[in-house]
Amino acid sequence: MNYAPNSLAGRDLAYSLHPYTNLAVHQEKGPLVITRGEGIYIYDDQDNKYIEGLAGLWCTGLGFSEKRLVDAIKGQLDVLPFSHSFSHRATVPVIDLSEKLIELAPGDLSKVYLVNSGSEAVDTAIKMVWYYHNAIGKPEKKKIISRKRAYHGVTVAAGSLTALPYVQDGWDLPAIQGIRHTDTPCYYRYGEDGESEEDFATRLAENLDQQIQDEGPETVAAFIAEPVMGAGGVMTPPKTYFEKIQKVLKKHDVLMIADEVICGFGRTGEMWGSDTYGIKPDILTCAKQLSSSYLPIGAVLITDAIYSAFVEHSTKLGTFGTGNTYGGHPVAAAVALETLKIYEDDDIIGHVQRVAPHFQKRLKALGEHPLVGEARGVGLIGGLELVADKATKEQYPASAKAAPLAVEKILGHNLILRPMPGDGVGICPPLIITEKEIDEMFDRITRGLDEAKEILG
Ligand SMILES: Cc1ncc(COP(=O)(O)O)c(C=O)c1O
Repeated sequence: MNYAPNSLAGRDLAYSLHPYTNLAVHQEKGPLVITRGEGIYIYDDQDNKYIEGLAGLWCTGLGFSEKRLVDAIKGQLDVLPFSHSFSHRATVPVIDLSEKLIELAPGDLSKVYLVNSGSEAVDTAIKMVWYYHNAIGKPEKKKIISRKRAYHGVTVAAGSLTALPYVQDGWDLPAIQGIRHTDTPCYYRYGEDGESEEDFATRLAENLDQQIQDEGPETVAAFIAEPVMGAGGVMTPPKTYFEKIQKVLKKHDVLMIADEVICGFGRTGEMWGSDTYGIKPDILTCAKQLSSSYLPIGAVLITDAIYSAFVEHSTKLGTFGTGNTYGGHPVAAAVALETLKIYEDDDIIGHVQRVAPHFQKRLKALGEHPLVGEARGVGLIGGLELVADKATKEQYPASAKAAPLAVEKILGHNLILRPMPGDGVGICPPLIITEKEIDEMFDRITRGLDEAKEILG
């Protein structure tokens, strides 16, 4: 270890603008300082060993010690540490990665634009929706419909599509024009008494149809959705939801953007959440597991129809006027390419399909816990919704901080999870987790939930 235990705590106070913390509490307590990782485990500066039950931030799919990824980074650094993709330039890793992504992509996606993060991918998707409609002579068709409780990032534009108070309060978000939000597809929380899951999906599709008609279909350009809503509370879509939603989009000529930043690359048990839920995206955003997060990289994939319009419009304007210095960074592209090769060589999707039934069995069993209203998930992603009363689904008052308390108690058993809005708890381990480790993880969750229940009453 490079650092003596505790030696970082004082230093951190000098730059303690930590994302998603209460800054005052953070100043008092200091951060949990992580020093190394191995497989699905990470260690702190006291050498305590934790299961990383959220794969970092839903992202380190291959765990924390994949040597092939480290070698890919070193290898590319030795050959070409940087070159950009502006003005008719490219690098070999960027070309190879783009080809590989298109080989894996769902539906008709045929072109790739590389960026540095999920938020940047979503921002770029928004710009592309606007550019495309200008290109095809429909400049009034610009509105984008997202969903309440969606998480699409935090930048000014992506943060406007996100619809969570904790991301937007105090930041003047949403801050761009033409952003609308429609219903959250969570049957447990928003299904009505006596309404079937399918009927709930029908109602949401009808609401969307009405919303588009009220806005004026000629003004609505795109709909954006996470296949499984992640950071807003791990909400899997109700049966038939995407089928019905896509019918509405088609009827009104509205583009479908699949935000695969969490779901992409095996999380739902198939390569894409779009494969799992029959989504045919016009635009797809991805990041996170694209490189198993060993280096920052994201991508936007588009169809040929959109690309052709871009070609024409950029010819008219003189250039395709967008780009990021580090978009398509060759080292990030090299590690992403190696990540995709490992997914294939190690049959990671097959592995997820083999262990996911056990994960889901243990997850669903938690639904019986007195603190849990619903345990829901797919593949290797799961969420718990904590309630005070299982029969009425009533939640604890916000002041009880039920989910943060549960996560803190679970952390006491050396398992890292994440509290989410609506008293949710996110579970999203590295894709390489074994059945034995899944058992270890759920045993720890159960113990932590028992302790939290005792305190919450
Ligand atoms: C679905 C989705 N989109 C976009 C983002 C933003 O990604 P980033 O944090 O890399 O900007 C996230 C992050 O969690 C996400 O879950």
